[in-house]
Amino acid sequence: MTSLLLTIILLTIILLTIKPLFLNTNKNCYFCPINFHQTYLQLAFNLAQKGFGMVSPNPMVGCVIAHNENIIGEGYHQQYGGPHAEVNAINAVTDLSLLRDSTVYVTLEPCSHYGKTPPCANLLIQHGVKKVVIACLDPNPLVAGKGVALLKAAGIEVEVGILENEALAMNKRFITYHTRKRPYIILKWAMSKDGYMSHPDTKQISGHKAQLMLHQWRTQEDAFVIGTETLLIDNPQLNSRLAIGKNPIRMAIDFDLKSQNLPLHFYDQSQKTYLLNGRKESKEGEVEFLKIANKNPDSIVECLYQKSIQSIVIEGGQRLLNSFISAGLYDEIRIFKSKQLILNGGQLAPEIPEFNAAISDLETDELLVYQNTKPNPA
Ligand SMILES: NC(=O)c1ccc[n+]([C@@H]2O[C@H](COP(=O)([O-])OP(=O)(O)OC[C@H]3O[C@@H](n4cnc5c(N)ncnc54)[C@H](OP(=O)(O)O)[C@@H]3O)[C@@H](O)[C@H]2O)c1
Repeated sequence: MTSLLLTIILLTIILLTIKPLFLNTNKNCYFCPINFHQTYLQLAFNLAQKGFGMVSPNPMVGCVIAHNENIIGEGYHQQYGGPHAEVNAINAVTDLSLLRDSTVYVTLEPCSHYGKTPPCANLLIQHGVKKVVIACLDPNPLVAGKGVALLKAAGIEVEVGILENEALAMNKRFITYHTRKRPYIILKWAMSKDGYMSHPDTKQISGHKAQLMLHQWRTQEDAFVIGTETLLIDNPQLNSRLAIGKNPIRMAIDFDLKSQNLPLHFYDQSQKTYLLNGRKESKEGEVEFLKIANKNPDSIVECLYQKSIQSIVIEGGQRLLNSFISAGLYDEIRIFKSKQLILNGGQLAPEIPEFNAAISDLETDELLVYQNTKPNPA
């Protein structure tokens, strides 16, 4: 009896010790075999994520190269205009002769066209890699299946669609831009505990943590947009001064150019600035005047699409936000809601059209994030 017990204990210890070598570490499936494709693609996603805020209007892409299940190279797209993930991964390989017997894991279909760099599909063909595993196809019409076709025509084994949903979510800005022909749209506002977003006697609604988070977002999205009244009343800088990273393009919808001769931050030439208006099209240093046919959200969004802007945050005020909500033209809503501040009057925040908020605690505020399940255009 004792020896049986000892044997069971010994076997359990051996199993637990060797499990990480060939069993899945997925906590939902302890005894499943390791899915190497998923493991390496997950690693490639982690690498791709490092390019967040740096690569737009290109997608974030990561690449891992494995030879006999050993990683021999990895890379990611680090900077817009710089080498793609596949190039960086191949450059990291010390023994290039191993590539002929290697599998390349890449989070997005390798490109097939000459852009700022030569086609990555050609590079993989040139090195004669054995197999390419791709998480999702590239919706950019310049690629859209052509990368896969090139690889297959060269006799390379190709597998597509592993962790596809993760890949689509990671590049939601790039995917939205190419499939819906508009930027990914985030509506953002701050509101008091009793639901107001501005009051003549109050300048600041949200607390320090929320401010830091907002400035971080400014380093991550292409452009931040405000309405005419917010430009004239608040005179915002719309930069990322409280975070490390790039400034976004700042943008106002000022159809009649009411702001033009005023001493506003928007005209201080400190960062790229667009004024969408109905009067003129010109460029004055960092300030660009872009003519739009009317003030409808559709026209605004079409103008931004033409400027290759892949993500925008609309930072208010209430009328501009409501026009996008009415048009169903948004993908996310992010609200900083004060836990303490009561304004007891002023301008009411927009009514929230969705009820599936994810809530995070930011000390004096709560962050509420809503996803639009039916964004326009469908
Ligand atoms: N709590 C917050 O998060 C927050 C954020 C931003 C602003 N604010 C506050 O909000 C107040 C301003 O809000 P607001 O609602 O009065 O003004 P707003 O939304 O900033 O600007 C509205 C004006 O923008 C122009 N516009 C251009 N395109 C538009 C469109 N598609 N839809 C609606 N308007 C468009 C219109 O001016 P024209 O008719 O002249 O063209 C309209 O009157 C300020 O007091 C500011 O401090 C609060």
